[in-house]
Amino acid sequence: MSRFLSTMATRPPINDMIKPLSWLLGKWRSEDGQGHYPTIKDFKYIEELEFIHVGQPNIQFRQVFYAFNAETKKPMHREVGFIRVTPDLSKVAFVSAQNTGLAEVEEGTYNEKEKELRFESHTVGRLTFGKPPVTKKIARIFHCHGDTLEQIVDMETVNTAMTNHLTIKYKKV
Ligand code: HEM
Repeated sequence: MSRFLSTMATRPPINDMIKPLSWLLGKWRSEDGQGHYPTIKDFKYIEELEFIHVGQPNIQFRQVFYAFNAETKKPMHREVGFIRVTPDLSKVAFVSAQNTGLAEVEEGTYNEKEKELRFESHTVGRLTFGKPPVTKKIARIFHCHGDTLEQIVDMETVNTAMTNHLTIKYKKV
């Protein structure tokens, strides 16, 4: 059984619906993520992302471990989720659950020529206790140019208008 599971997890044929996004599949690493927000001190972070397919028309997304603070090496953020697409790729979606208690549903578009996925949240769920404060909107871009994947995350909270939280460039590993 374990042999079957490891074979299935590593070698299914890629589903036709996500073939145009096959450049995204695999592991991407950055040691120079930049975190900002008007309510917090700027920080740098290290992150390794993995985009996995199992033959279905969706892509699983996760950090290989955590996003770490680049100076203290302490774990910071973790999220897991899925990218889903319509058959003609006219719409794409990103859903994620985060260690802070946030859950996001984002939808958007794919620009095949630019290798760019743009998402904007229509739903952000959060816990009724603790941090972070109510997040009203999250926008996320994944853009691949050459051998570099860039992720940009902007957000709006009850206290702060839409502004950048994360900008990070990864190389494939
Ligand atoms: C704070 C959301 C990713 C590090 C926050 C806050 C929100 C938030 C709503 C509170 C801002 C405030 O208090 O005004 C998100 C979302 C993410 C994300 C939606 C999705 C990608 C990350 C990542 C890191 C990070 C990847 C670090 C590697 C922090 C830190 C704070 C913070 C250090 C300030 C301390 C705190 O409030 O816990 N984030 N974040 N965030 N975020 Fe993120």
